[in-house]
Amino acid sequence: MSTSETPGSAFFLRHEFGIRRLHSLLGIVPLGLYMVVHLTTNASLLNAPETFQRAVYMIHSPGKLLPLIEWGLIFTPLIFHAVLGVWIARTGKINSGQYRYTNNKRYTWQRVTGFIALVYLFFHILHLHGWFHADLWLGAIRPIGFASFRPYNAASTLVDAMQGWVWPAFYLVGVLACVYHLANGLWTAGITWGLWISPAAQARATKLCTAIGILLAVIGVSAWWAAVSPGANDIAEMRKVEDRMYQSAVAAGMVDDNPEKRIEVETVDPGGASP
Ligand code: HEM
Ligand code: HEM
Repeated sequence: MSTSETPGSAFFLRHEFGIRRLHSLLGIVPLGLYMVVHLTTNASLLNAPETFQRAVYMIHSPGKLLPLIEWGLIFTPLIFHAVLGVWIARTGKINSGQYRYTNNKRYTWQRVTGFIALVYLFFHILHLHGWFHADLWLGAIRPIGFASFRPYNAASTLVDAMQGWVWPAFYLVGVLACVYHLANGLWTAGITWGLWISPAAQARATKLCTAIGILLAVIGVSAWWAAVSPGANDIAEMRKVEDRMYQSAVAAGMVDDNPEKRIEVETVDPGGASP
């Protein structure tokens, strides 16, 4: 029955029920939920740099606790889901039993977009966040163009990091792959959890997941466009807005005075009279 009798595949087959449910759950909460909020936050830049900066201040308000939240609620589930996904794709049986109504092409794309997401997210997080915020690590990767996002200069550092065409093209493919992966993943998750069993129920679920996918694609492409569009290129103007917001936010006690999260510390004038 099985093609390779490695200890890994024996373990997988014995615990397939639990592994698939854990994998599925992580894909929806927290990852799916995070992605919806994340893309919406980034799309807010379409309105104005102020709107985006306010959202980023709020996200960074946990201060020193933020790495704990990022690793506990985003990175660890992401790595777990990715490792289990690769394992399922390599070890699990294709389209057997519970998947008999599944459209084979969509099922293949689910796996293909999973692999695209793996490559995309590895480099996306390295590119903007950096993965780790230890000084030694940041000192090594920042000069080669990684960890380039600074939360207190949110719009300007994001737009700056998206110059040229390579990153924008990479992001467009990555975002669309993630959107497909989540929307189609919600459909297959409905099968994992026994929500839509009959062909009629599955046809209705297809319509629902397509609608979710289109909506998310619009939000995702808006986020992408906000970061790469030629209109978003007035970085100097954005920096002025960000400096002004930073000074008032620090004065009001809304953000901690953290130079690490800014691009140019020397532009801050504690007296408030920057030129
Ligand atoms: C980091 C790279 C990722 C990899 C390698 C990956 C891999 C996979 C694979 C291979 C599957 C299909 C499993 C099967 O054959 O049954 C899958 C399903 C799924 N993935 Fe991912 N994924 C990744 C990221 C994500 C992200 C970021 C999200 C959410 C935004 C997500 C949400 C889902 C959902 C909801 C499912 C459906 C689970 C089910 O059928 O019960 N995945 N993933
Ligand atoms: C145009 C699309 C996107 C833009 C402009 C964008 C922007 C950003 C920015 C600016 C950061 C750094 C945040 C920080 O360090 O505070 C970030 C981090 C991150 N992004 Fe994206 N992103 C996009 C698409 C996606 C997609 C589709 C996913 C899939 C789930 C994703 C997942 C993440 C994760 C996991 C992090 C690291 C955790 C964090 O810092 O919040 N991003 N992104």
